[in-house]
Amino acid sequence: MAFISIKQVSYTYNGRKKPAVKDVSLDIERGEKVAITGLNGSGKSTLAKLMLGLLKPQKGTVLLDGKPVQKYSLPEVGEKIGYLLQNPSQMLFNTTVYNEVAFGLKWRGKSRAEIHRICKGYLEHFDLWQLRDAFPFNLSEGQKQLVALTAILALQPACLVLDEPTKSIDVSRKKKLIEILEDIWRQGTGIIVISHDVGFITRFGGRRVHLVEGEVVDAAAGC
Ligand SMILES: Nc1ncnc2c1ncn2[C@@H]1O[C@H](COP(=O)(O)OP(=O)(O)O)[C@@H](O)[C@H]1O
Ligand SMILES: [Mg+2]
Repeated sequence: MAFISIKQVSYTYNGRKKPAVKDVSLDIERGEKVAITGLNGSGKSTLAKLMLGLLKPQKGTVLLDGKPVQKYSLPEVGEKIGYLLQNPSQMLFNTTVYNEVAFGLKWRGKSRAEIHRICKGYLEHFDLWQLRDAFPFNLSEGQKQLVALTAILALQPACLVLDEPTKSIDVSRKKKLIEILEDIWRQGTGIIVISHDVGFITRFGGRRVHLVEGEVVDAAAGC
């Protein structure tokens, strides 16, 4: 049974004539590495939101671990899938970088020492440890993106959905991102990356799913 099973899903935004996602069928296995590519406006972010149950398909079904995604609460989906929004600054709400990463771990009842160990490990990996007391709102876009990503990684979900994770990060951090994604993938975490950054996608590898105007086309035709 696929971890995420999308069956003939279509979604049209209110007031739009053309569907943003059209008749998409896609199975993603547990632990799989998948790159969803396509031009701006091709429906990638909409497809991600459908996978997470944040949008409800007008046609078709999305199963997560064999159950319709709509039947899970949002925190339940969050335990299975870590989701990095295309605009990650919308995800930051704590007063320090450290607390941003620690928040979900505290919520899960981890000990102070364990939270410290996990936060330090991830923040150091991205050269963010020295910013641990900074106010997230004051960081650069790239730093905000990495803090949001770190907070997700720290929770070790079964699968990650990362929407344009390289949007505003520099080359050296992109390299680190690739390294950490490769690492956690090898440890069994599924990774779905949405991107039109061709260099990043090429290095990331994985199965390619290419969208054109809301439809999945033959991967060979992809970028
Ligand atoms: N909230 C929205 N309301 C109306 N139309 C939207 C909304 N979000 C996206 N769209 C439209 O849906 C299509 C797919 O968008 P999106 O999924 O964001 O594509 P991508 O992530 O590939 O850039 C585009 O035509 C976009 O303009
Ligand atoms: Mg998008």
